[in-house]
Amino acid sequence: MEVTRTFAETREKYRGRVGLLPTLGFFHEGHLRLMDMLRERCDTLVVSLFVNPTQFNDPADFDAYPRDEERDAGLAAEHGVDLFFAPDVDEVYGGVSVTTVEVSGVTVEMEGKHRPGHFVGVATVVAKLFAGLRPDMAMFGRKDAQQLAVLKAMTSDLRFPIEIVEAPVVREPDGLALSSRNVRLSREDREVALAISRGLFQAAEQVDAGERRGDRLESTVSRAIRHLDVDYVQLAAVDTMQPVPDLSAPAVLAVAARVGPVRLIDNVIFDFVDDKPVPDRGIFLDEPSSLTRLQ
Ligand code: PAJ
Repeated sequence: MEVTRTFAETREKYRGRVGLLPTLGFFHEGHLRLMDMLRERCDTLVVSLFVNPTQFNDPADFDAYPRDEERDAGLAAEHGVDLFFAPDVDEVYGGVSVTTVEVSGVTVEMEGKHRPGHFVGVATVVAKLFAGLRPDMAMFGRKDAQQLAVLKAMTSDLRFPIEIVEAPVVREPDGLALSSRNVRLSREDREVALAISRGLFQAAEQVDAGERRGDRLESTVSRAIRHLDVDYVQLAAVDTMQPVPDLSAPAVLAVAARVGPVRLIDNVIFDFVDDKPVPDRGIFLDEPSSLTRLQ
C-alpha cells in the first residue's frame, strides 16, 4: 500500500478499474467490511481519509472527531488497500475555492433539518474527490441513507461517469450500528443506544407481518426510543427522501437521536422484491467490535 497526498500522484498509480471508498477515518469494522466488498470489484482500491471541515455544522463535533492516521493506514494495508489518499486541507480546498455543490429536494428533510449546511459540505467534498480522483466506482454505506441518496442524485445530475455501489449497514452482534462516534459512548449509554436498532427491527417485523402504515411503523420506533433525546423518526422515499404515509415503494425508516454526548443515526431500508417490501437489516459482526471501544 502507498500513502498519497495529492490527486495527481494518486491518479498516476492506477491500473485497471479503480474503486474509491471515501471516509473520515478512524476506521471501525464497518469501514473494513466496505473495503473488503469493494476490493472484490476493482483492480486498484483507493481509500481516502479526509476529515472534511465543511460538513461539520458544529465546530465542537469537528474538534471532537477521533483521528489517528497511522492506525488507519495500518488497518487499510491489512485489508488490501492499494492507495491510501490522505490529502491536507489545502490540496482539497486551496486555490480560488468559490464553488460549492448544493443538491436540492433530497437534502431538505431529516438530517437536512437538523444539520444545516451539512450536505453542501458532503456533496462538495465528494464532487472534489470524484473530479480529482476520477474513479470508475465509489462505495457508500446505507448507514447514512440520506447521504447516499444525495450523492446518487449529485452523481447523476453532474454526469459523473462513476458507478455508485451501496453497502449494507454493518452492525454489532447485538444490533448497534457501527459508528466512529461509538467510541464516545459510556457503557451505560451504549445500552440505552441499543433501543434504536431494537425499535427498527420491531418495525421491520411488523412489515414482514403485513403492516404498511407509516405512522404505525414510526410509533413502534418512537416507543422503543422514548427515553432518548430524539431528533426524528421518519418513513421516507428512498430516492427523494420525502416523507411518505405508507410503504408502497422503496423507503427508509430513519432515526436520529442523541445518547449522552453522541448523536447517532440508524435506519432500515425496505427494498421491493416482487412488489413486496423486504427489510435490509444489514450485516452483523460475529464478534463485538474491538475498534469502537475505548482502549
Ligand atoms: P464516514 O462516516 O467515515 O463513512 C465512510 C463510509 O462508510 C460512508 O459511505 C458511510 O456510509 C459508511 N459507513 C459508516 N459506518 C457504516 C456502517 N456501520 N455500515 C455501513 N456503512 C458504514 O460518511 C462519511 O464518512 C463522509 O460523509 C464522506 C462520505 C467520506 C464525505 O466526507
